[in-house]
Amino acid sequence: MNIAVFGTGMVGQSIAAKLEQTGHSVSFGTRDVLKTLNRTEKDRTGKSFTEWYEPFKSTIRVLSFADAASQAELIFNCTSGEGSLDALRDAGKENLKGKVLLDVANPLKFSKGSPPFLDPCNTDSLAESLQRSFSELRVVKTLNTMNALLMVNPTLVPGDHNVFLSGNDPAAKLSAVAVLKSFGWKESNIIDLGDITTARGTEQLLPIWLRLWGKLQTPMFNFQIVVAPPQMR
Ligand SMILES: NC(=O)c1ccc[n+]([C@@H]2O[C@H](COP(=O)([O-])OP(=O)(O)OC[C@H]3O[C@@H](n4cnc5c(N)ncnc54)[C@H](OP(=O)(O)O)[C@@H]3O)[C@@H](O)[C@H]2O)c1
Repeated sequence: MNIAVFGTGMVGQSIAAKLEQTGHSVSFGTRDVLKTLNRTEKDRTGKSFTEWYEPFKSTIRVLSFADAASQAELIFNCTSGEGSLDALRDAGKENLKGKVLLDVANPLKFSKGSPPFLDPCNTDSLAESLQRSFSELRVVKTLNTMNALLMVNPTLVPGDHNVFLSGNDPAAKLSAVAVLKSFGWKESNIIDLGDITTARGTEQLLPIWLRLWGKLQTPMFNFQIVVAPPQMR
């Protein structure tokens, strides 16, 4: 499948590499192609984009948001929460029409320092705002509740643990499930929460996720939902 990955940070890199390894045709969408291709400062992975990109030069393209979207059947939103609407505007409504957008972004604001706060929150979510602004895009919120490496390799945390889905379009959610399974997620560990408003819940897991990261001193953990057996409910 032809897949666009919006965002060239650690999430975009992790997802693009996995998609390439699983046989998809992958393009990054980025604000400034030349600037991204020449980005030599090290990011949180300890590598610069140019170092990371070297082995993928012949297989993963780096394009504008519009060019990546126009050729894609499915799009991953791996941009910062503050940049997500701008990225979709740059992609252009015509290039997004009818496409599935797997939204991995979180609406984290760092303007008051660390830890960041959520905006929008409670009565709205980033996923809903993307869906409202681009009504013909089929947004599915997923994978935003875990570390970038775990998203594409769930066995990094042993045992059963969960990934969530939120979205209005059942067929788009089936596409999301297929992608998640190709990343190694067991279908029984995928929890479809319901329509796009349920993304408020998963985006609001971020404040607890960030505190757990501080407490556990590793980002390599995940949420596991344990349900009581019928006789105990
Ligand atoms: N890091 C994690 O483990 C993790 C886990 C779960 C969810 N998330 C979420 O996933 C998203 C990506 O996270 P990240 O850590 O990879 O990187 P990030 O630093 O949060 O985002 C980097 C990307 O956002 C794009 N961007 C920033 N401002 C923009 C704007 N105004 N318009 C368009 N694009 C803009 C950048 O585009 P350029 O390529 O043009 O520079 C860059 O590719 C975030 O929303 C984050 O909250 C992260």
